[in-house]
Amino acid sequence: MATGLEWDEFYRLGIEGIDIQHQKLFEIVGRIAVLDAASSTKEDLRHILKELSNYMREHFHDEEIYMRSIGFPEYGYHKELHHEIIEFVNTTVSNSPTLAMIQTKLKFIIKKALIDHIINEDMKIKLYMSQYKPKTDDCTVELN
Ligand SMILES: [Fe+2]
Repeated sequence: MATGLEWDEFYRLGIEGIDIQHQKLFEIVGRIAVLDAASSTKEDLRHILKELSNYMREHFHDEEIYMRSIGFPEYGYHKELHHEIIEFVNTTVSNSPTLAMIQTKLKFIIKKALIDHIINEDMKIKLYMSQYKPKTDDCTVELN
């Protein structure tokens, strides 16, 4: 089912580890979007939201390690944005007690927390890489 929340090639940074993690975030979000209120329990929802929040933290952590490894100048600012996103998602989810409410807000959450962040901020990492071309051995970070 198309939800409007799918990964798009436009979001690709060309940094493989980060792109794979972004795709995985879209995949988790897609599963929330198609959860069926009639057959899903609160426990199903709690489980998948926990998965999203855990993976988001893991991804941000890896992205921060990557930024540091290449000497990305906006590292501190970018890290702060990650923190704000986690807070924003947690607040929105805890203020939405039902699956239907979360699904309604999901587009807004994802637009702000994932898509806008990739386009406006993560793309700066891509730009930095393309302009400065650090030595390859400066930026070999294992990303899962
Ligand atoms: Fe980021």
